[in-house]
This record gives sequence, structure tokens and C-alpha cells, in this order.
Amino acid sequence: KELVSEIEAASVTSKEQLEAFRLKYISKKGAVTELFDGLKNIPQEDRRAVGQELNTLKNLAQNRFQEFSATLENTEAANPEMLIDLTLPVAPHLQGSLHPLTIVRRRIIEIFERMGFNVSYGPEIEKDWYNFSALNFADNHPAREMQDTFFISKSEGEVKDDVLLRTHTSNVQVRLMEKQKPPIRSIMPGRVFRNEAISARAHCVFHQVEGLYVDKNVSFKDLKDTLYHFAKEMFGKDSKIRLRPSYFPFTEPSAEIDVTCFICKGKGCNVCKYSGWVEIAGSGMVDPNVLENCGIDSEEYTGFAFGMGIERITMLRYGINDLRLFTENDVRFLRQFEGA
Ligand code: PHE
Repeated sequence: KELVSEIEAASVTSKEQLEAFRLKYISKKGAVTELFDGLKNIPQEDRRAVGQELNTLKNLAQNRFQEFSATLENTEAANPEMLIDLTLPVAPHLQGSLHPLTIVRRRIIEIFERMGFNVSYGPEIEKDWYNFSALNFADNHPAREMQDTFFISKSEGEVKDDVLLRTHTSNVQVRLMEKQKPPIRSIMPGRVFRNEAISARAHCVFHQVEGLYVDKNVSFKDLKDTLYHFAKEMFGKDSKIRLRPSYFPFTEPSAEIDVTCFICKGKGCNVCKYSGWVEIAGSGMVDPNVLENCGIDSEEYTGFAFGMGIERITMLRYGINDLRLFTENDVRFLRQFEGA
């Protein structure tokens, strides 16, 4: 009788209490089972009646248990916070970010695409013709040496048919001019290779974007305007450019392009070695020999070309002072470009 009222009065509000209820009344060692065990001590004539009462008690206990677990489940479903400890710290979810060179390459492409340039790609393993000969590098021209070429195989005979890792993306210019009639207006992003010792300022693998515009009446002014616009888009509208005479076998005249230092805005800092200017590109009017080498009539067409290093521009843009940071993959460096 006591147990009946006890069980009827019991209430359960948590999984722990539910388990305690089960242990106390229903389990093999629970109170109800104990009473059943005591049945053998009851005189024969009363056993039947007592047994019936015990059965009722057992059913009551089991029904209460079912009820309790059903309501518990319902409240848990209605209040999911009962299942989740909201005070626990979340497992960090690292999303990763774009590499700074990717960010800047994409930006360069975007700027030139808006000016009507398309994007071309070409092979990293290249024949001498596309990397040098078609670009007006004479066989024994010292500029070949200046490019610190990685050779894959060297030719023995008269004809230069070396296979090498391209030293610039100008090979794509040649391939483009060979297979496409002007007008050509394209940029060529890509990886290039030079046999140089790795330091803060040099690497044996780096990235370039070259540009080529060949059409009737393309002038030096077009080159200047294009690169001026690029500098403003890349480094801000107050940027200025200046051109210094230079030499490349494949352009004539040739010019080196400097832009006002993005870090100190031309006032002088250690990035620009206190000159206020930094070099961003080589450029020039495509040498008529190159056009002819690629089957384009140099009487009818003229063109300009330029080439810039993506690492250089990225270093300037973000004030990075060591080229090696780009390839070391230190997350403390890379994470600084999240959302850039
Ligand atoms: N190909 C040159 C280099 O890698 C850059 C360049 C491209 C210069 C086009 C002039 C014109 O150094």
C-alpha cells in the first residue's frame, strides 16, 4: 500500500531521476521484485490474493515508468537545449583563405579584362624557339645568360632546339601570335623559373603576368595609358607612373615602369629605398622582328607588350618584405589575408 502511494506520488524531471526510479522499483533488485521474492513466505491460502495485488503494483510501476520516459522525451524534443550544453566552447571551424598571390593575380586579371584583354595560358616546359629565338634573342646573346635558364635538354647541332623551363611568360605571346591574326589583346599569367639562389628578394620559381596588344596603329601612348590606368586601379587613384629607358631583345623602344610607392605614397621608405618609386614592369613596343618571326606583317601592324612579377606587386600592395613568405605556408602569415 505504501509503495502504491509512493509510486503514484513520484515525479521524474530528468534522465537521472528516471533511471533512479527504474532502479528503485522495477529492476531485479528493486522494491517490487523484492516483494515478489517474499511471496514464497506467504501462507498458501493468501498467496493468490497477494500475488494479484503485487501484479497490480508491478503494472503500476511499469506504467509510471513508461509515462515518465514519454514525457521526458517530449520535453527534450520541445527544448533541445536540454540535450545541448550551450556553455561548451565551439569547436573552431577554420575556413582557410586565398593565398595573397591568388588575390593579386585575380585582381590584375580583373583590371585588364575590363580594358578588353582576354587571358591566355601556355606551357611551363618550353622549346628554345618560344622562350628565346622567336623573341629575337640572338644565339649568343648575353640576355640568354641573364635569364639563368634551367635546361631540360640541350641541343647538340646547329639549330637551337633546347628544351627548358620558361624564364618568362613571353612564350605565350609567341604562341598566340603564331596562331591568331591581330587584333590580339591578351594577358598571360603564369609560373616562371630562373636558376637563382633563394633569398628575401629572389626565388627560382615566381609568377608573372605579361600583356600583349597587337593591332593597326597601336602606339607607345597606348602602352603608357594602359599601364597608367592599371597602376591607378591596383595602387589607388593618386598613383603615378614613370618610364625609364631600358632594353629587351623583343621590344624596341623598351621602358621600365615605376609606380609611386604604395607604402609611403612617394615620401620615401625602406620598401622603395627612399626613392618614392618602385619598379613594377618591363615593357616596350614589340620589335618588328618578333612580329615577323610569328608571321605577322610588321608594316601593317604594331604592338606593345609588358611583363610584371605578381610577387613584386603583392609585396608592394601589402608591405611584405620577404619573398620566401609566399612559399613557406606559415598559417600566421596566410591568415592575415582572410577577407582581403
Ligand atoms: N619578359 C620580360 C621579363 O621577363 C618582361 C617583359 C615583357 C618586358 C614584355 C618587356 C615586354 O623580364
